[in-house]
Amino acid sequence: METLLGDRLREGLRLRRIPQPCAVVIFGATGDLARNRLIPDLYNLARKGLLPGAFAVVAVARRPFTSDTFREQVQEAVQHSTEVPYDAAVWENFAGSIHYVQSEFPDPAGYAQLRTLLAELDGRLGLGGNRLFYLATPPSAYHTIIDRLGEASLAGRTRPAQGRPAGWTRIIIEKPFGSDLETARGLNAKVFEVFDETEVFRIDHYLGKETVQNLMIFRFANTIFEPIWTRQYVDHVQITVAESGGILGRGGYYEEAGVARDMLQNHLLQLLTLVAMEPPTAIEADAVRNEKVKILHAVRLFTPEEVETFVERGQYARGIVDGKEVPGYRQEERVAPDSVTPTYVGVRFEIDNWRWAGVPFYLRSGKRLPKRVTEIAIQFKLPPLILFRQAGVEDMEPNMLTLNIQPDEGITLRFAAKVPGQATRIRPVNMEFDYGTSFGVEEPTAYERLLLDAMVGDRTLFARRDEVEKAWALVMPILEAWDAHRPTDFPNYEAGSWGPPAARALIERDGRRWRRL
Ligand code: BG6
Repeated sequence: METLLGDRLREGLRLRRIPQPCAVVIFGATGDLARNRLIPDLYNLARKGLLPGAFAVVAVARRPFTSDTFREQVQEAVQHSTEVPYDAAVWENFAGSIHYVQSEFPDPAGYAQLRTLLAELDGRLGLGGNRLFYLATPPSAYHTIIDRLGEASLAGRTRPAQGRPAGWTRIIIEKPFGSDLETARGLNAKVFEVFDETEVFRIDHYLGKETVQNLMIFRFANTIFEPIWTRQYVDHVQITVAESGGILGRGGYYEEAGVARDMLQNHLLQLLTLVAMEPPTAIEADAVRNEKVKILHAVRLFTPEEVETFVERGQYARGIVDGKEVPGYRQEERVAPDSVTPTYVGVRFEIDNWRWAGVPFYLRSGKRLPKRVTEIAIQFKLPPLILFRQAGVEDMEPNMLTLNIQPDEGITLRFAAKVPGQATRIRPVNMEFDYGTSFGVEEPTAYERLLLDAMVGDRTLFARRDEVEKAWALVMPILEAWDAHRPTDFPNYEAGSWGPPAARALIERDGRRWRRL
């Protein structure tokens, strides 16, 4: 009995993956991401008892806060969060671990101050010299921060060898990782001046979503699905990331990015790789990422002419979403009145490998669509209808497996059933699995999961250098063709509709339809 309990305790500790003592240093700590996501999620990890006993958050930003005034600011964000329950006692304790360093990002004095503070915290709290840097600033500051970390002997490779404090150094870099292939390569080169790949965590928060992680489990832990996950049985795959929201005051960023950089290069392509990849040899960072990269290499690269045929772009005009009138993209703040930035993309990719040859992957994502929904739908081939024609059945809906990623997390399998009665009539019915009701546990948010992974040093859910670059390589022909041919029909879809008519044509000319969601 003793041993059993001991085993369970050990197993619990193993699964709970408590990280080693460390300091999390957030650059850009007064920005939206840090205030509304990172700090509340770190607090929530503390609430769940998942942070190490010795722990500190060091917030670095330009604005003139003291540690106290910064704590008050973020306390408000935690109290108002709809996702994180506020617990005054936990907050008090957690808030005590937050320190603020005011500095302009290029100013070496700020890094000297940071180094002194970290050394002091190491000594006082026993953090063991472990540091996780988080770049949550606008991407334009990344190069400078990396340079200064290096110069201040704070980066992995530049920490002093003599009297080197034991301990690890890691860096999380937010998306967008570069704004095209060249800048992504440039950023990788910059990072490698002072960090090793094993220290770099390129974040894509879609990989932290529970249902996205479940994709691998679903595919490889179930004998009944994996054998039919091939061109012999699958007719096509649809991946949709639809948003009812607009650009939420991020006009400046979005004008530069547009949907291809904001969603396609990262979130959509990540989902595609997880659906399409071969089983990895282990659920371990490099094994998984090797398989994902293989898929990215197998995705057929578009020629400029093919972009015309296989990619459709759109931009929303004013319209009605959730019963409310909303402005068009060109009327949003900090957007040019004649902007040609696309807010919708539909793509038809093909994967040139043994498993997927001939199976189209249709991807779409847009802002101001009728609802917020992310799903992956696998449509299977129809069986021969010959048997049923004799009974007057002329058509049937194919089997469809839908992985619902958000907001209703679950899996639906649609199959044919006989309608009760004397006649042979066939109708599709659904078999459903719902995450919430099946497990009834509080799910970690994507950032909680990824922050914890970075603290324990698990890179499985972070993009590797070649992965990010290959994803950019796939998007480049699209960006180049779009730059070369300015759209003349923007805005071309109403807010609250399912995107431009040409996006329907993209799939309908193959005799298929986008799913009605
Ligand atoms: C971000 C994009 O990466 O993902 C946003 O920059 C987008 O434009 C967001 O709205 C969507 O994330 P989620 O988790 O709400 O689907």
